[in-house]
Formats: sequence, structure tokens, C-alpha cells
Amino acid sequence: LYAWMRNARDNTPVMFDEASQSWKVYRYEDVHRVLSDWQVFSNDMCRIMPEHGFTRGNLSTMDPPEHKQLRGIVAQGFTPRTLAELAPRIERIVKELLDAVEDRTEIDITRDLSYQLPLNVIAELIGVPREDRAVLRRTADAQLALTCENPADGDFVVAVQKAMGELQDYLRQDLVPARRQDPRDDLVSKLATATLEDRSLDEEEVVNFTVLLLLAGHLTTMSLLGNMMLTLSEHPDQFAEVRADRDLVPGAIEEVLRYRPPVPEGGRVTNVDVELGGVVIPADRMVLTSLISANRDERKYPGPDRFDIHRLPNPQLAFTTGIHYCLGAHLARLEAKIALNAVLDRYSDLTFTGMQWYESYSLCNPRRLTFEVRRP
Ligand code: HEM
Repeated sequence: LYAWMRNARDNTPVMFDEASQSWKVYRYEDVHRVLSDWQVFSNDMCRIMPEHGFTRGNLSTMDPPEHKQLRGIVAQGFTPRTLAELAPRIERIVKELLDAVEDRTEIDITRDLSYQLPLNVIAELIGVPREDRAVLRRTADAQLALTCENPADGDFVVAVQKAMGELQDYLRQDLVPARRQDPRDDLVSKLATATLEDRSLDEEEVVNFTVLLLLAGHLTTMSLLGNMMLTLSEHPDQFAEVRADRDLVPGAIEEVLRYRPPVPEGGRVTNVDVELGGVVIPADRMVLTSLISANRDERKYPGPDRFDIHRLPNPQLAFTTGIHYCLGAHLARLEAKIALNAVLDRYSDLTFTGMQWYESYSLCNPRRLTFEVRRP
């Protein structure tokens, strides 16, 4: 894959892909331009792919000015101050998860930590009570099966639709009305009581946006946590350095995001004919920017295939850039930092014992990632 992408960057940096009927973009500079220029490259993918079921109220398929207004409402939930308040709660969740496997000598990072942590954090942020979280797990499991096992299998599509329907029903019938009546300090309450210009969000918008928040923060962060543990264990010298000097943790996380970005591509639609990388892309075409390729572009990064926690600067694009820059980027980094520190504090030694990838690369994610652990 990486050799193929290097070849694409050199010879066909912007090319039409028959299979996906879209234009693929491979160089860092071009990817950056597509993601930054929202006037030419729109996020309104519904207009060319209505069958994909993109929904109203979904921030990631909106353009300005609606995008800015809606993003402003939830952005309050992701400020540095809110995140600082959230940190002790994240620490508590990590502790509970690791306590639950305290009697084991082998842990599975995916099952025991990286699947659970983001699910519980996002549920707390949004305000889904503990006893109601099974529906979140069912939706995530169906989505994992669809994106990672066999994207072409119709049964998986049906399973996702069923789980999503169940989640929407829960929000529509239980959580949203409850918070509308009795608002609390959580994101669902903010959305349910927010006003956009001169109107409040309608029920469909509140439900759809909440679904986006619940899903956007789970499997992606799970992937980051798994990739972090895997990549560090593949580079034992750097792993030991991080253990000895925790100030290196943030740099290590940025480098994992560059080296193995959880989301491989960012999508846009052209508003007009546009020249990019020597070719003209017509209006109303799908453009897919390869975040994996951009993050390994030798024009941007010396020795891009080398994992180096000291890399500076490291303007990796795992969260993209521009007005749609991932809203949860700082939260994901915070979760990764707390999780890595907790693992290093608790285990004096971790020996990699095995892993399995999900078959599909649409979400780069270890299915199973086991370590034999020793405690001090
Ligand atoms: C958007 C990646 C975690 C919420 C995005 C996009 C990517 C991404 C690639 C698309 C941006 C674009 O269209 O240009 C990731 C990765 C994560 C992560 C790699 C973890 C490592 C989270 C978390 C949340 C979150 C924890 C919190 C709920 C969102 C939202 C958007 C978004 C709301 C839409 C933003 C907009 O369109 O304005 N993310 N994400 N993400 N992400 Fe994340």
C-alpha cells in the first residue's frame, strides 16, 4: 500500500478512480488545499450521493453559514476548560477498565481498553446514562462489522440500519425529551435547548447530530489507542524513552496519528470546475483526499516511513484541517494521553503477544491486540 501510494504521489498525484467514481488526491499540499478551500470543495455530499443516507443536522455534510452556527453550539462542549474538567472523569474510567482486568497476566488492548474508553467518555459528555449504553455498543458493533469485516455484505448494511434506528428511537423517545424538560450540564441538553439564528433545532436535527457525535468519537479514538500501543511496541527503544520521560507522550501521539491515521480519507464535492495537480476536476464530482498518503509525503516529511516521536514540526492531517477540522481532536488526544500514562504507571513491562487487523482498511484498527503484562 505505501509503495503504491508513493508511486501515485510521483506519477498520478490527482487521478480518477473508476471503482469509487471519485477523484483521489495523494500529495500533502493538494490534500491540504482541498480541505482548506471550502468555497470550491464542499462538504455537502448529500447532493451527489443521496442514497448514502447522510442526514439533516449532520455537521460533517454542511457548508457555511449553517455549519458555523451549528458547530458553535457544540464547540462549547470541547473547549480547553471543559476538557480540563473532563480529565479526572476520563482518568476514573481508565482506572475502572484496568481494575477490571487486574487479575490477568495477558490483556487485550482492543477489548479491555480501546473499545470501552471512548464509548464511555463520549456517553458521559453527551449525557447518556450508564444503564442506557447497550444501545451504543450495538450500533458500534454493527458499524464495525460493516466497515471492517465485509463492506459488500447486505446483511451488515441491514444490521447497521436496524441498530441506528434503535439508537434514533432511544434519543427521540427517551433522552431528548427528558433533557428538553429538565436540562443538565451535557451536550444533549445544549442541543435540545439551543437556538440557531431565530429558531431552535428541530427534533430530527438534534437526534441526527447526537448520533454523529456518538459515532464520530468512538471507533476513531479506539483506532488511535490501538495504533498507539501497537506502534510503540514495534519501536521498543522509543517506547522505553516515553516510559522514562512522560513529556514525550504528546509528541508520540502526534506521530502515531501521522504514521497510522485512523480515518484513511476525507471527502469533498467540487462546486465548480477546478484545476488541481495538473488535471481539471469537473464540478459536482466526489473528491477523496488520502490522509494516509499525505501524512507520508516525502515532499513534506523527511524519511516519512520512519516512526519518530521527536518529529518537529508534525502538521499531520489525521484530523484534517480547515473549518471541518475534527471537533473532537483535543478530546481524542486527551484520552490517548491519559490511557498511555495509566498503562505505563500500572505495568512495569508489556510484551507484545499477538494481533489481528480488521480485514478492511476503511478504518485502520486492530481487532485484537494482546500484551503479556507485568506489574511492579
Ligand atoms: C470530523 C477524525 C475523534 C467529533 C472528523 C473528520 C475526521 C475526523 C477525519 C472529518 C473532517 C473533515 O471533513 O474535514 C477523527 C479521528 C479521531 C476523532 C482520527 C480520533 C483519533 C473524534 C471525537 C469526537 C469527534 C472524540 C467527539 C465527539 C467529530 C465531529 C466532526 C469530526 C463532530 C465533524 C466536524 C465538522 O464537520 O465540522 N473527525 N476524529 N471526533 N469529528 Fe472527529
